[in-house]
Amino acid sequence: MSPEWPQLSRRSALKLGVGSLASAVATASLAGQGCSRLSFRALAETAEGSAAPSQSLQAKAAAKGLLYGAAASYGPLSTDANLAAAHIRDCRILVPENELKWLTVQPQPDRYDYSQGDWLAQFARSHNMQFRGHTLVWNQALPPWFDQVVTSQTAEQILTQHITAVMQHYRGQMHSWDVVNEAVAVGHTRRSDGLHPHPWLDLLGEDYIELAFRTAAAADPDTLLVYNDRWLDYETPRDQGQRTAVLNLLSRLKASGTPIHALGIQAHLNGSETRFNPNLLREFLADVASLGLKILITELDVEDKDLPADLALRDRRVAQVYQDYLSVVLDEPAVIAVLTWGLSDRYSWLSNYAARPDGLPVRPLPLDSDYQPKPAWNAIARAFDAAPQR
Ligand code: G3I
Repeated sequence: MSPEWPQLSRRSALKLGVGSLASAVATASLAGQGCSRLSFRALAETAEGSAAPSQSLQAKAAAKGLLYGAAASYGPLSTDANLAAAHIRDCRILVPENELKWLTVQPQPDRYDYSQGDWLAQFARSHNMQFRGHTLVWNQALPPWFDQVVTSQTAEQILTQHITAVMQHYRGQMHSWDVVNEAVAVGHTRRSDGLHPHPWLDLLGEDYIELAFRTAAAADPDTLLVYNDRWLDYETPRDQGQRTAVLNLLSRLKASGTPIHALGIQAHLNGSETRFNPNLLREFLADVASLGLKILITELDVEDKDLPADLALRDRRVAQVYQDYLSVVLDEPAVIAVLTWGLSDRYSWLSNYAARPDGLPVRPLPLDSDYQPKPAWNAIARAFDAAPQR
């Protein structure tokens, strides 16, 4: 296949201040080598140097009927032309990292602020990207007024109003919405169902989840309604408990006729974690699919805090983790989309949340801090190449 950079027209490149397409378009590719699993050795042999794509990740994903994209924040995306060019090149779906969270979108009880979300929606639209919403119901990123105003008397009305207002604002524009995020946290709760101590759980009981999905379905009947959660990836007691609890929750929601369409698996992976069991993950994905749900990988990245400082070694391990994980999840036909939580190492939440003790910059994403593809990019590309057709 010939190189394909579908959205970066000359006009948009100029508008973004992208001086040279050559800097955005790399020169060599590992595409088409057809390996579904990479060994460290193979990566060392093939992915060193300035790896450079001849095809975008979005094109490789689309060739298999999959969507690839990434999270971005308004600040960087609206001011950094190189980042914007990288998204335009590699992504067919965009998710705001923080701009649709309650804190940003409803800063006062009676005031909604969609300015940053609208800018991101427009960016997606003008570059033929789909747009997804994150997130309507979460116990974090709540505004300061929340505790004063939300009581057991007002909770239901405030929750349903927020969901309705935000979803109607973006009605018809959203590929999918994370309606409820991180409701389960096995190990952080005494409840046998694993539900996390949570303002909404305290105020409304466990039915807040069903209420949220029913409200969401009424507000925008044409978008995919997603339950999004973390810690579903490894063969650890925590993740095994989390998989069971999430599966039970999804089964309960389906049994009660709740309008839920997909599970979002965050997949914040860890380069130092060795307890990855492909069979357990496959089984979980198949169980979710058997409920009639689609699956999205919504926040993929690979923490490198405890990996060796050596760049080549570190990048290879991160790439290996991407490859091992994606080769399993893309085998499951219910998986329809993969999003990384950021695109370039220049902008990753892990810089703050999982900084390296040696002070070196973190490298968890497909592109380095100069927007060049890393072995992780190649690993994702290969996983798409090897994925079965949807
Ligand atoms: O924008 C302010 C800035 O003005 C201020 O000076 C600075 C001081 O701390 O804070 C900035 O806001 C931060 C914001 O990220 C933007 O960088 C917030 O403090 C910080 O809490 C916020 O963190 C976000 C976090 O969710 C909490 O909302 C991360 O960017 C974001 O990557 C992370 O994303 C979550 C998903 O929503 C759910 N799954 C896990 C994932 C990673 O934690």
